[in-house]
Amino acid sequence: MATISASNASNLLLITLASLLLMLGTSTAYEFRVGGENGWSKPDGNETESYNQWATKNRFHIGDILYFKYVNDSVLVVDREDYNKCKTSKPVREFTDGNTTFRFDRFGFFYFISGLKDHCEAGQKLIVRVMVHPEVLSPSYAPSPLPNGEDGLSPGSSVKPKSNGASKFIAGSSSSSVIMVALGVIILVFA
Ligand SMILES: *[C@@H]1O[C@H](CO)[C@@H](O)[C@H](O)[C@H]1NC(C)=O
Ligand SMILES: *[C@@H]1O[C@H](CO)[C@@H](O)[C@H](O)[C@H]1NC(C)=O
Ligand SMILES: *[C@@H]1O[C@H](CO)[C@@H](O)[C@H](O)[C@H]1NC(C)=O
Repeated sequence: MATISASNASNLLLITLASLLLMLGTSTAYEFRVGGENGWSKPDGNETESYNQWATKNRFHIGDILYFKYVNDSVLVVDREDYNKCKTSKPVREFTDGNTTFRFDRFGFFYFISGLKDHCEAGQKLIVRVMVHPEVLSPSYAPSPLPNGEDGLSPGSSVKPKSNGASKFIAGSSSSSVIMVALGVIILVFA
């Protein structure tokens, strides 16, 4: 029953909203801190979950960042085979600065291991799958791996983590300007 002009206006509105969601999805990057209190370190057996259990509870996208904090250790990016064997001799990339940020520049699987073979074999290894599609909804917080009794957070808890726990935050801040532009378009459509 809508008039032609009203229907045109609502089509434009839909297109605007769709573009807005798309832009929000692609302009929002998260930083994930790897590990709990001890950062990227050899598991001591007190963790509530492994690095990979943590990873499967999160959604990673292109542009997101992993932050590794470590002492007397390193981060190797390796292929699947070397990951499985904890083979440290021919990494794709190697970081030793103790304070490493790694930005995902493609989708697919990324394999991280400690440069110390015994650490890798003890479970200091991580597979991340980077999703193809941009995330529109805000993902939930997920702590990992925290020592027992330190913090009572159960896996999958949506409690905001303390600063030393695994955390993520919005690294980009262009969302508000996108919203302003979209609002402007909507106002034009209905003027
Ligand atoms: C694990 O936690 C217990 C109790 O908090 C502690 O006594 C023990 O030393 C811890 N083990 C390691 C390897 O840190
Ligand atoms: C790192 O290695 C140095 C030199 O071997 C040692 O003195 C230091 O205690 C180590 N630090 C940690 C946190 O293990
Ligand atoms: C780690 O790196 C960040 C930026 O990449 C820097 O702001 C921070 O000071 C560094 N921290 C240490 C301990 O090097």
